[in-house]
Amino acid sequence: MNILHISDLHFGSRHWDGNNKLLLEKLNSYDADVVINTGDSTTDSLESEFEDAGNFLSSIHCSHRFSIMGNHDKRNLRSQDLFREFIDDVDIIHPLEPNKCTKNNIFLDPNISKVKNNFTDINFIQTLRLHGKSILVVGLDSNQLYSDNGCIDDEILRSLSERIEQASYDKLLLMCHHPLLETDNDPLYNSYRLHNFINKHKIEHIFCGHTHKLSLKESTDHYHQHTVTQYVSGSLSSSSHREDTNMFLFYENWAEKEMIIHLVRIFVAGDKLLFKEELITF
Ligand SMILES: [Fe+2]
Repeated sequence: MNILHISDLHFGSRHWDGNNKLLLEKLNSYDADVVINTGDSTTDSLESEFEDAGNFLSSIHCSHRFSIMGNHDKRNLRSQDLFREFIDDVDIIHPLEPNKCTKNNIFLDPNISKVKNNFTDINFIQTLRLHGKSILVVGLDSNQLYSDNGCIDDEILRSLSERIEQASYDKLLLMCHHPLLETDNDPLYNSYRLHNFINKHKIEHIFCGHTHKLSLKESTDHYHQHTVTQYVSGSLSSSSHREDTNMFLFYENWAEKEMIIHLVRIFVAGDKLLFKEELITF
């Protein structure tokens, strides 16, 4: 099973000057069974940005595409509606007991905001059957409306846990915009909650974005005797800090012994794009 991992597309004012058509040609040259987009598809959560991001994502030739929200996608009261209209009209998991949620602005006042859905989080679980194996894809929303910091809500985790426990699967793939094993100026608060969740379900793979920096790490909890691998891709297509390079990751034979990770760095050269590819094995 091959996975194409992209992140931080940043359509809008922080989008790069590179040629998206050439970028799509390159992405489509990989034989991906699954595409994972780990958030920040937009810069300011504007409708036009969601629309552009949605058009780009739907031009990637793969029948299994999964996207989650990033902090930049949650700068609009209509963020949830726009994500579902343009990116993915995914089945959202609602909290079992809404009054136990503690995340700020997780519910909007329906009398004030004219949104279709006053619940602002996008959390989902989907099962994929690929090459004889069933993969449970879990999308966890680590973002809070109008905040760049990450925040995990315990009641949401409890609601996801119930669904995971009902599912049968060979591998679980967790997507979360804010990394668990990295930090920056807008970190994931309450990361212990995510650690507990990972230990509880013995989650072995977490895909993240947010920092615009490549990071491939394993963490072992010796008390719970559990190891998780965290894959963080840098930005696909942002004009950002000087030290960043745009990139994507292609996981050939993901989670198998013979997995090879293709790290593809992307450089804008006038009208063209230059690609520099490195192969990484664990
Ligand atoms: Fe982010």
